[in-house]
Amino acid sequence: MMRNVLILGATSSVAQATARIYARDGHRLHLVARNAQRLDAVAEDMRVLGASVVKTTLQDLNVTESHSRLFSDVEKELGPVDHALIFHGTLADQKACEADFSHALRELETNALSTLSLLTHLANDMEKRGEGIIAVVTSVAGDRGRQSNYVYGAAKSTVNTFLEGLRNRLFKSGVRVITVKPGFIDTPMTSDFPKGPLWATPDTIARGILKAVNGSKDVIYLPGFWRVIMLIIRHVPEVIFKRLSL
Ligand SMILES: NC(=O)c1ccc[n+]([C@@H]2O[C@H](COP(=O)([O-])OP(=O)(O)OC[C@H]3O[C@@H](n4cnc5c(N)ncnc54)[C@H](OP(=O)(O)O)[C@@H]3O)[C@@H](O)[C@H]2O)c1
Repeated sequence: MMRNVLILGATSSVAQATARIYARDGHRLHLVARNAQRLDAVAEDMRVLGASVVKTTLQDLNVTESHSRLFSDVEKELGPVDHALIFHGTLADQKACEADFSHALRELETNALSTLSLLTHLANDMEKRGEGIIAVVTSVAGDRGRQSNYVYGAAKSTVNTFLEGLRNRLFKSGVRVITVKPGFIDTPMTSDFPKGPLWATPDTIARGILKAVNGSKDVIYLPGFWRVIMLIIRHVPEVIFKRLSL
């Protein structure tokens, strides 16, 4: 069945890998990103791969005042959204955030507040229609604060908690809310990091997202072994955890 799929943060590597799967199946896509040249290139790829419709909107998602206009454009151009997937994010420079709160605030806007605004619009629309699927990429970093990235982690855990509440609210309307918690992914965001066996490709994460969308799980770790890793990390007593250099 052909779906109307809204992809927010469409130039992200994981978003592109996910959009490619939808495009190959001929679905109708609306791509939203802030860089015109890269957005056009992604849209062209999706047309070549077989998406039946590809619409685009250029939008810095941190500008929450524009979200109402964004959703009315999407409604006009794509029609009612069946699947909405949120990908955009930045990996905060933790040291810069510690030195200057305005930096932390920007990271919180990108990784939490912008997403909460998008979710507010999507939830009201889908609740009214009584259908739809929302999937949001957060991170395992939201499961426990660590000294190396607690601003990013706090933003992601804010979104995780918001999604829990939203899932609870929307369940009776028949709207699904999926929380996607990846571990390390090899993308431009992590280009400076040394890679190892725990690292996944955007394609692996994208396949996991589609499996969740077509399945029934509410919260997924990708790859799945991160569920076990994070279970252990979450259970380390604080008295020990605070002494570790993580
Ligand atoms: N990579 C990892 O190891 C990892 C692990 C766990 C979770 N995640 C999460 O996975 C998601 C996708 O990241 P990725 O790994 O695919 O990284 P990526 O390729 O660097 O993509 C990040 C995307 O976010 C976009 N973006 C940032 N701020 C934006 C804004 N204000 N408005 C619109 N777009 C904005 C960027 O757009 P521009 O191209 O215009 O900068 C870029 O396309 C993120 O939410 C990230 O936090 C990543």
